Amino acid sequence: MKKILITGASSGIGRTLAKKLIPYSQVWGVARRKEPLLALKKECGRNLFVSSVDISKESAWKKLVNNLKRSNFIPDIVIFNAGINDDDLKENIILEKTKKIMDTNFYGPLYGLRLFLPLVKPQTQFIAISSFSAFRRNFSPGLGYAASKSALTLAFESLHHKYKSKFIFKTIFFGPIKTPMTKFAKYPPLVKTADEAAEFIIKAIESTKSNYYFPRSVYYILSILRLMPMSLHEKIMLSVRQRYKDSSPLLPSHRIFRNF
Ligand SMILES: NC(=O)c1ccc[n+]([C@@H]2O[C@H](COP(=O)([O-])OP(=O)(O)OC[C@H]3O[C@@H](n4cnc5c(N)ncnc54)[C@H](OP(=O)(O)O)[C@@H]3O)[C@@H](O)[C@H]2O)c1
Repeated sequence: MKKILITGASSGIGRTLAKKLIPYSQVWGVARRKEPLLALKKECGRNLFVSSVDISKESAWKKLVNNLKRSNFIPDIVIFNAGINDDDLKENIILEKTKKIMDTNFYGPLYGLRLFLPLVKPQTQFIAISSFSAFRRNFSPGLGYAASKSALTLAFESLHHKYKSKFIFKTIFFGPIKTPMTKFAKYPPLVKTADEAAEFIIKAIESTKSNYYFPRSVYYILSILRLMPMSLHEKIMLSVRQRYKDSSPLLPSHRIFRNF
């Protein structure tokens, strides 16, 4: 039975993924909130282990990895799924929020990797959950989220090139998925469920490519939009945002585009 560590197992995609993997593997789920982790443990039974860990802190990773070693749970697959999204760009840059996003979405996985690389067996898989926002800011109103996912994506590319004969590094790019993270007032037609996203991760685990995109249709649309001039791209993205995310605040620059 494979041993799989999932960060962000208390909610959304990570929680759904943990439940799907349990019949075939031992899963160690990590998140900050204890109650949803204990509820998940109750649902999944003895093949699921949980730890309340703040992955944005290196000391918490050290404690977790010591705990994994003591429990003889050296993972064959690590899925860096935990992430946060916050609006760190309002009247000005809210740097505390930006730092928190970077600490969680970018440094968090690196703290973990630094401890795992000397510990795990060859051919261990490391999977980063990135976003279509890594290519060009799309639906997120702030600046930190897209930057953190770009940084994570490039870090995984570098790790893949450095360690390709020893370890497996994969990056999964998600478009809009219906989870507690997304705050659509109503959901656009191409939005997928956490169940579909978790199924996609399982297919990626079994496959041999480095990069995966889901939903592919949205990826193709965004790839075409990226070829357009920035101003036109902004205009189209803004109108989609306004249509489906009525609650998100308009930035002054966006108001200009809206008035075109
Ligand atoms: N939903 C989308 O549309 C979408 C699109 C592209 C990419 N993604 C990515 O998919 C991943 C999963 O997101 P989701 O949509 O499933 O969101 P979600 O339901 O909000 O889940 C996020 C998970 O991350 C955990 N987490 C956040 N900060 C943490 C920290 N400091 N330490 C430990 N765990 C932490 C949360 O648990 P606690 O709060 O209990 O700590 C939660 O379990 C994220 O990386 C996200 O960026 C999502």
